[in-house]
Amino acid sequence: MDVITALQSRYSVRAYLPEPLPDELIGEVFDLARLAQSGTNSQPWHIAVVSGEACDELRRRLCERFDSGDRGERDFPLPADPLPDALMDRRRACGYSYYETMGVERADREGRARIARKNFELFGAPHAAFFSMPRVLGVSSAVDVGILLQTVTLLMVERGIGSIAQGALAQYADTAREVADIPEGNGILFGMSFGYTDTDDVINTVRMPREPLEAVASFVS
Ligand SMILES: Cc1cc2nc3c(=O)[nH]c(=O)nc-3n(C[C@H](O)[C@H](O)[C@H](O)COP(=O)(O)O)c2cc1C
Repeated sequence: MDVITALQSRYSVRAYLPEPLPDELIGEVFDLARLAQSGTNSQPWHIAVVSGEACDELRRRLCERFDSGDRGERDFPLPADPLPDALMDRRRACGYSYYETMGVERADREGRARIARKNFELFGAPHAAFFSMPRVLGVSSAVDVGILLQTVTLLMVERGIGSIAQGALAQYADTAREVADIPEGNGILFGMSFGYTDTDDVINTVRMPREPLEAVASFVS
């Protein structure tokens, strides 16, 4: 598969088949992903993969916290709302696409919560991963971890593996730490659910639009 095909065919997968991936396949993906670049070659990242019974336990604990109304605590705080207008608009449009596809009215709070809960159900995936870096690091290192995320994602696409990055999985950082093997002193930036895509689930039919080139880039010569 070439990079163009991988980029064009990738999307965030929000429903998975229960069968686990072979350990060797998971190992190969993360081993290759180590080749990603980072500022000063600092490689500030750590990926903690959770599978099998540990993944089921993680799912159970995350859902329990979400259901109790507990808002959790992140290692790295989110930026305060409101975001710039254009970003708010895209964020809303993103949510509405899912509500519409799932037959949930915008005013239906319970329906929206059901969709949000899917994050903590790990979208039914048999595997989850937490991407972390030392808490003392800042934005430039977070960029490095983002590059690692995309490297992992494209390697997975090439191997027929679906995935979704999840900022939501940073919400209950202490629960993640209880189940996953995250280095002492590291903070969780985001998580990921992954596995084989359930292509029959309607939620996987959503495709997000992108801004035109002139809106996101400028060229001077
Ligand atoms: C760092 C990061 C965090 C994300 N967090 C979540 C999340 O918590 N829940 C979710 O459903 N999608 C999450 N997404 C997926 C985005 O919503 C998705 O990438 C975007 O809408 C574009 O859609 P696409 O990936 O299908 O092209 C996240 C994506 C990234 C890159």
